[in-house]
Amino acid sequence: MTEILKRKEAVKTYTEEMKKSMEKVGGNRQKNVGFEPGRMTAGEKEKLLATYHPDYMENEFEILKVGKNKGEKVPKELAALLQGKSAVKSDFDLSRPDYDTDVLIIGGGGAGAAAAIEADNAGASVMIVTKLRIGDANTMMAEGGIQAADKPNDSPAVHFLDAYGGGHFAAKKELLYKLVTEAPEAVKWLNSLGVEFDKTDDGTMITTHGGGTSRKRMHAAKDYSGAEIMRTLRDEVLNRKIPVVDFTAAVELILDENGSAAGAVLMNMETREFLVAKAKTVILATGGAGRLHYQGFPTSNHYGATADGLILGYRAGAKLLYADTLQYHPTGAAFPVQIFGALVTEKVRSLGAKLINSEGEVFMHPLETRDVAAASIIRECNARNKGVHTVNGVGVWLDTPMIDIKHGEGTIEKRIPAMLRMFGEYGIDIRKEPILVYPTLHYQNGGIDITPECETAVKNLFAAGEVVGGIHGRNRLMGNSLLDIIVFGRNAGRNAANRSKTGESAKNENLSLSHIDAFENELKKAGAQSGITSPVLLPKYTK
Ligand code: FUM
Repeated sequence: MTEILKRKEAVKTYTEEMKKSMEKVGGNRQKNVGFEPGRMTAGEKEKLLATYHPDYMENEFEILKVGKNKGEKVPKELAALLQGKSAVKSDFDLSRPDYDTDVLIIGGGGAGAAAAIEADNAGASVMIVTKLRIGDANTMMAEGGIQAADKPNDSPAVHFLDAYGGGHFAAKKELLYKLVTEAPEAVKWLNSLGVEFDKTDDGTMITTHGGGTSRKRMHAAKDYSGAEIMRTLRDEVLNRKIPVVDFTAAVELILDENGSAAGAVLMNMETREFLVAKAKTVILATGGAGRLHYQGFPTSNHYGATADGLILGYRAGAKLLYADTLQYHPTGAAFPVQIFGALVTEKVRSLGAKLINSEGEVFMHPLETRDVAAASIIRECNARNKGVHTVNGVGVWLDTPMIDIKHGEGTIEKRIPAMLRMFGEYGIDIRKEPILVYPTLHYQNGGIDITPECETAVKNLFAAGEVVGGIHGRNRLMGNSLLDIIVFGRNAGRNAANRSKTGESAKNENLSLSHIDAFENELKKAGAQSGITSPVLLPKYTK
């Protein structure tokens, strides 16, 4: 590590403003470590969110004119895609399928992989298609951990209350119930597959707090929890020889004569050739939308996070829930520019680092829920003018050296080595210097509406993972996303496999794309055609 830091020292170029502000932070550090900032009242939070949170910026949203959510608002960028046009015409030849499977899983992240393993366990033939490679997903980018109430002082009921309150009492209760009650078993399952969770010498899982948790229930693999979970799931999928078709995107769902899901039109990302996959049931596990960069925000998301599942599902008749609510992670890297928007895990604050403004003052409790923390940082920078300016933006300090002061030297190296390395690459030693952060687009709280069995409004179309809306209400707590991909991924896999064995699954006869015309006609009538071919599959700055 020291070697990297020596090599990279030259890369770091602090401005005079940054240097002066950093001195104030250093000068106040001992005092600030011991300072316990108060929590905001419910009223204060409401006012803060309404004034500063991006979800409340009305002119950034558009009302949908067609589909199941007609009359509801969604981000402008998403509206253009939901009201876009298909890459194929309805008369596309479906008569000679390239693939035929019981369960088709679209998406190669954590939810898709968990679904594939359980569908395989249930005896179905299953296939994953993914537009990049298996594991190129937000799961891989997740850092801080996975929640599960498995300690004696905790319970799923307490976990439920934390998440329900943190989500503004909007979560679909039956989904949240499933999430928290199946959490302990989900962590056990991952552990049995080989995930290397942090443990004490006697094998007890180490757990920490996250924003909005009343108990320490965050299980982690240092600060690369998602990568460790994805590595394990990917190995399991590959060891079972479950077919994975890489670099192949789904561009349209195929329905049968009853309007039930029966496969997908695929596109080879390299040759642009279209392919047909027939299936008895389909699972959407396409993940999030950060690469749409709503309101111009940077993102912590992987390269393929472009809301594909929402588009495919919506055009085929699925319903969305809370598609107007996004999560801006309070601590995206604001400096240096090379890692602009990259995730700085909430675990940094769980371990004791505080948020500090340009004057060296603690301005909020470090573990408020994410929406409140993000809005508070935006207010500090924009309205109070107490942010620190960089060449391409503004941010506040996250005073990382506090961690080793609080827990002893070596804690940063042991508990958040990925953060130490990420900043070390640019000559910043987070053990000695604070880092600059600003909110980054991190997660879509909303998505496709599902039943507790993971089925959408389209029969035989299931969904799991970030593409789903309603589990977390209007704001998700840290660690409940790695949890939901496992809980709902496994359920979706099992249920889709079981359905594929019944007479209710698609017969794979009379495959049709007639929903494309029906949707197009609706768009025409409403004068709402954006003209954009959707899903877009990759961000607009892709060459
Ligand atoms: O801050 C984090 O480590 C992110 C975790 C999450 O989104 O659950």
